[in-house]
Amino acid sequence: MKDAAPGTTGETIYLADYTPFGWTVEDVHLTFRLAPESTRVISKIRFVPNPEASQERFFLHGEELTLVSAKIDGQSVSPEITEQGLTCAVPEGAFTWEAEVEIAPAKNFALEGLYMSNGMYCTQCEAEGFRKITYYPDRPDVMSVFTVRIEGDEPVKLSNGNPVASGEGFAEWHDPWPKPAYLFALVAGELVAHPDRFTTRSGKDVELNIYVRPGDEDKCAFGMEALKKSMKWDEDVYGREYDLDIFNIVAVDDFNMGAMENKGLNIFNSSCVLASPETSTDANFERIEAIIAHEYFHNWTGNRITCRDWFQLCLKEGLTVFRDASFTADMRSEPVKRISDVIDLRARQFREDNGPLAHPVRPESFQEINNFYTATVYEKGAEVIGMLKRLVGDEAYAKALDLYFDRHDGDAATIEDWLKVFEDATGRDLTQFKRWYSQAGTPRLRVSESWDDGTFTLTFRQDTPPTPGQPTKLPQVLPIAVGLIGPNGDEVQETTLLEMTEAEQSFSFSGLGARPVPSILRGFSAPVVLQHETDTETRAFLLAHDTDPYNRWEAGRSLAKQALLRMITEGAEPDPAYLGALQTVITDETLDPAFRALTLALPSEDDLAQTLHEGGITPDPQLIWEKREEMREAMARWMPDQLATLYRVHQVPGEYRPDAEPAAARALANTALGLLTRLDGGEAARAQYASADNMTQKLAALTALLSIGAAETELAAFYEQWKEDRLVIDKWFSMQVAFARPEETADVAAALVAHPDFDMKNPNRFRAVFGALSMSQAGFHAPSGKGYALLADWLIKLDALNPQTTARMCAAFQTWKRFDAGRQAMIKAELERIAAREGLSRDVSEMVTRILNH
Ligand code: BES
Ligand code: ZN
Repeated sequence: MKDAAPGTTGETIYLADYTPFGWTVEDVHLTFRLAPESTRVISKIRFVPNPEASQERFFLHGEELTLVSAKIDGQSVSPEITEQGLTCAVPEGAFTWEAEVEIAPAKNFALEGLYMSNGMYCTQCEAEGFRKITYYPDRPDVMSVFTVRIEGDEPVKLSNGNPVASGEGFAEWHDPWPKPAYLFALVAGELVAHPDRFTTRSGKDVELNIYVRPGDEDKCAFGMEALKKSMKWDEDVYGREYDLDIFNIVAVDDFNMGAMENKGLNIFNSSCVLASPETSTDANFERIEAIIAHEYFHNWTGNRITCRDWFQLCLKEGLTVFRDASFTADMRSEPVKRISDVIDLRARQFREDNGPLAHPVRPESFQEINNFYTATVYEKGAEVIGMLKRLVGDEAYAKALDLYFDRHDGDAATIEDWLKVFEDATGRDLTQFKRWYSQAGTPRLRVSESWDDGTFTLTFRQDTPPTPGQPTKLPQVLPIAVGLIGPNGDEVQETTLLEMTEAEQSFSFSGLGARPVPSILRGFSAPVVLQHETDTETRAFLLAHDTDPYNRWEAGRSLAKQALLRMITEGAEPDPAYLGALQTVITDETLDPAFRALTLALPSEDDLAQTLHEGGITPDPQLIWEKREEMREAMARWMPDQLATLYRVHQVPGEYRPDAEPAAARALANTALGLLTRLDGGEAARAQYASADNMTQKLAALTALLSIGAAETELAAFYEQWKEDRLVIDKWFSMQVAFARPEETADVAAALVAHPDFDMKNPNRFRAVFGALSMSQAGFHAPSGKGYALLADWLIKLDALNPQTTARMCAAFQTWKRFDAGRQAMIKAELERIAAREGLSRDVSEMVTRILNH
């Protein structure tokens, strides 16, 4: 099993092999002498033998470091150094390790460890980046207190914890909370602060700052409000207060992910914190609010209680996603948040679960942990917590969470610890529930109904398809929320929770006067594929009468899907029954405009392809695209007056506010605009583009024009207006690819990478083009194969600089087995071309191998 050195390409790490580190770390002192090409990092670390582990081998992680000197208890030592770290003979008892290493942040394009972005120093250490800063036991179960001294001329020098001293050319920070190295952070540069304050409920005064590059000061106010709301919400809902004197956020332009929860010093991709009405859309505002909350909430779920090892990643990520979703539901609309999350779950997690990259919420092995920050760990991980909460109830959930914080504060914990807390708090046996953490794949839930003399019976069968390494599955605990609606549209059984534990199980409702229509899986109470054969009338009935907003939306969605699938597979016309039902809903002014906007949107091309594939039909991406366009055209022609009215009635007067209510009105008006543009040749969209004072309206108009191929003038004007604003120019890049006609998508992308503003080193810019290419199903899978070849060319180029971002983008190929033999052969050839590259990163090598070995 262990035939390669730890951490090298090809070596697999197993959950079952976990052993604790032989030493605990009492404290860590770090000094940074900053210089772009030659930063010196001086470390002084106190190691104490760990009574619960063996002291056989003293190994410190370290990669891409030049060791200048090493000492143990003041005596020089000569450790044995490999590509992954060092080993050294050490004394029997406690000892002090001192080392000086040299690193080159200016040459670090992987954006992991200490690197430079626009002349500023910053770090990213999760998951295993600290080992690129100095030699250290870089594993989350080694927690310690850090004191950091930064030496350099930069006016702002930040690290974790509280500031303790500063003066000419230096600053010192001390973080009193023991933490793993992945939460370490350092920032230095010419930055300006947007300051504020927050008083915790116990009266502690906290200094807050958002640090940005000069020029971005006017884009901080929204993020700061989001931070204060998050701090308040965590006190009110989870009883958790902030625990340092200062909380800093820094915006960085070059960042692989969205943001990072470093203790007291969160670092954000500038796209996830900077906001202004002129440059950000409603969707951007909502995402910024959510991500600021997410990273802040990690202070308790992630930082105070961290993960024992990286297999437990969902312990912090699933829980924190669940918490940020609850926050957004409270700040905005609960049903709208739920519907959006399910759309996202199906698009990303179901897709992953149905292909070669499927893995459990808690994986059991990996080569590169960065490849496991996935929709499954995050989104399905959050669903599992949602199910747990439904099963035990709100009160017991709150009690269990209090116990979790009491019992594990300061720990590096496991999923077993987490579940034990729920068992102890509620008396429930969670043995079977735990399968949600170990079994990959999306359960299929088939349901049939019967009616007999006042008794209505639902019979469910669950079955999970095989996934890589898991040919057979056991039944899982499924919380199924159900309501019953009488023939007149009144609810005869309010939402009740059925707890399914068997492969097949029936539930009866008696004493009913007439056969009801069931509303099953309300609120999407379990992440399953529901297979319920119902007719168009029943779906239309639920769309009109269901009291559960989620299922009401779902009824509309399944009608749309059924109609589209008939168009694709049978050449049917757009279904008038669907169009009629849709018209009724979208013109119902008692309904939330955001809900209506979601109902008016069609299932994605990918969703349709996934459904066809599941039904044994090879999807034709071009045909799916055409039929979806045809349906949109039919929608516009069916209700032109109603759409025009919606557009007019939902214009928002006055100054732009990013709040949920005006955003909902804009969402509905702009969805209507998109359809109307098919009828008026772009007149309304051009007028909106010309008069809009905010990015939401501008972008909606521009994309409507792009989708009818009439945006040339506006696109050029947009570029001229915003060429100095990197985040807006990212939008300019991505929308051209996203809204190109499929046969042109790859050419548009190829032309854009030749544009002087294209910079492959910046992950946002790279993703703007190639993320859009891979998400445009018909464009990416165009029969020429140009999309595949272009993406592969650029993945190969980027891998030499930034393996992490490259590997994430390889997932574009994960659906390859859905398609016809010709496309499969072309994709396979591209994957093999990537795999054959000399010097391929471990990250990409693992991804490509997993996708190919399906
Ligand atoms: N801890 C992660 C950031 C991270 C992920 C660092 C992978 C290193 C490797 C952070 O808390 C996170 O989850 N960020 C998400 C956004 C969030 C709202 C789900 C991200 O960056 O996409
Ligand atoms: Zn997170």
